[in-house]
Amino acid sequence: MKVVSDSIQRQMAGSSWIRKMFEKGIELKKQFGAENVYDFSLGNPDIAPPAKIREVMCRLSETVSQPLGLGYCPNAGLPAFRETLAKYLSKQQQVEVPASNIVCTVGAAGAITSFFRAVLEPGDELICPAPYFVEYGSYCGHFGGVLKPIPAKPLEFQPDIDAMERAITEKTRVILINAPNNPTGCVYSQETMNRLAEMVERVNENRERPVFLLSDEPYRFLTYDGVEVPPVLPLTKFAILLGSFSKNLSLAGERVGFVCINPALPDAQLLTNAVILTNRTLGFVNAPVIGQRIAMELIDEEVDKGVYTRRRDALATVLTEAGIRFAMPKGTFYFFPEVPGGDDLKFVDALLQHNVLAVPGSGFGFKGHIRLSFSTVDESVIMRSASGFRKAVEQIG
Ligand SMILES: Cc1ncc(COP(=O)(O)O)c(C=O)c1O
Repeated sequence: MKVVSDSIQRQMAGSSWIRKMFEKGIELKKQFGAENVYDFSLGNPDIAPPAKIREVMCRLSETVSQPLGLGYCPNAGLPAFRETLAKYLSKQQQVEVPASNIVCTVGAAGAITSFFRAVLEPGDELICPAPYFVEYGSYCGHFGGVLKPIPAKPLEFQPDIDAMERAITEKTRVILINAPNNPTGCVYSQETMNRLAEMVERVNENRERPVFLLSDEPYRFLTYDGVEVPPVLPLTKFAILLGSFSKNLSLAGERVGFVCINPALPDAQLLTNAVILTNRTLGFVNAPVIGQRIAMELIDEEVDKGVYTRRRDALATVLTEAGIRFAMPKGTFYFFPEVPGGDDLKFVDALLQHNVLAVPGSGFGFKGHIRLSFSTVDESVIMRSASGFRKAVEQIG
């Protein structure tokens, strides 16, 4: 009996490395005790939401207990939340964004999926720098889109814009960027963003179906050393912005994100209406109502970034002492170091023998590196992982 489609069966067989490590982690924790396992595989922030959430939730209990307090809301999101987002994004992006160009979505993931459904024809191509967030392939694959990753330049991982331009064909529909980047922690400079935007403008000169510059920014708030993420919307009318409150408010399970269609794009309202429709017909219907209300109330708040800063510094020390080469992440809670010997699968295996869990770069379309996430690893645990890293390096020789 065949109960699963062929394509999903194939995806299940190649089940993500993050998932595999997650399961391995559970096994190791049972065997050795949680305090003796150093799990750098997960990207699920463990920092508490901003303290104001308690008061917000108390007030919300009044609202949600009213009739329709938890009923369906408009497919595009609660009108008041869209207005709040419009103000927030107008300030952040330095362009006037009307609420009518914003769609509230089920996280950034729902935003990407709804946008892809609205613009892709089967066989359309999407270009993104590698390494990349592993779900992109599935998100576009659902609608017949084909991901074409173009290697970025190690160790800093700025995108190779010339190679990306050479990869463009008449089938290209989206250039997908993500900075601060998962898995590299790279933030694109203003110069890089300008060049990307110029390239997109040039490519679109004679196209009927434009190539969009889609910027996936759930980590926008999390940068270090005074680095800022340049706003994308003013750079080209083909830029589309999406993001979420999963990381800046530690609200990942509440699933609140947004797509912002560039007001300068011809037919911007048509595209916005298309995303509202796909958000509905993909079965999301509307972003969670409680999540939208929480995000609306906490829009000017963020989690304590100091915790991430201290973890980043601790992990940098551990890696340096182990002799592992890396570029210091400018944002996010990930490191993407080079592996000694160049074989990421072998090195992940060596780390596992010392109860250190990492994800091989192969899982992100970029061999020879590993991804280490410090989103759930306390500073003291990071320091205690040092001998595991050292021993794994010695073992690899
Ligand atoms: C690069 C990137 N894009 C999108 C997402 C999805 O985020 P959300 O939880 O807001 O759906 C993630 C989640 O980790 C991510 O790392």
